[in-house]
Amino acid sequence: MASKINFELAHATISDLQQMGEMEKACFPLDAWPLIEQIAALILPGLVRIKAVYEGRMVGFTGGEVKRNQRVGWITTLAVLPEFRRQGIAEALLRACEQEMGMPYVKLSVRRSNVQAQALYLKCGYHHKDVWIGYYEGGEDALVMEKRLPEFNNVE
Ligand SMILES: CC(C)(COP(=O)(O)OP(=O)(O)OC[C@H]1O[C@@H](n2cnc3c(N)ncnc32)[C@H](O)[C@@H]1OP(=O)(O)O)[C@@H](O)C(=O)NCCC(=O)NCCS
Repeated sequence: MASKINFELAHATISDLQQMGEMEKACFPLDAWPLIEQIAALILPGLVRIKAVYEGRMVGFTGGEVKRNQRVGWITTLAVLPEFRRQGIAEALLRACEQEMGMPYVKLSVRRSNVQAQALYLKCGYHHKDVWIGYYEGGEDALVMEKRLPEFNNVE
């Protein structure tokens, strides 16, 4: 069996914009964020932005937004370049984002047809919570998935 690569996790910054654009194109043929949203994800205060880096190249990215009044952290995006998949990169990014958001509940939405991502979320402890009918471009439903993180139960 091929051994897994030694990637590192780091905070992303605006200097990652170009690589983020390439990742959006490669990973989200239907839902790529427009440039303005990519910039926002990399600079707005209060957002979590974590990249996976291999040999100086960004190979994965996740974003998170904390809704403190609801005690929920939302995973806003998660992507790994196709040639770097099935090496545990998304799982590591997801867990790092959950920890950095520090909320007792984490939620995300995923296309109903995206069974690969749903398999990842189920493995990481998420369960189906809700359906947003016709939410995505093209009219596909969103499944909302949620996970509870008991270690953050006392967060005010
Ligand atoms: C979904 C995605 C982020 C997964 O990235 P990844 O780095 O390959 O995921 P991991 O290697 O961490 O996978 C962890 C586990 O998730 C599950 N999983 C991940 N990809 C899977 C697939 N294609 N088919 C079935 N299960 C899968 C498996 O249980 C896997 O564990 P295993 O490899 O030991 O079996 C990646 O495929 C991607 O970028 N897809 C396009 C963008 C996207 O759909 N993002 C999610 C939007 S909600």
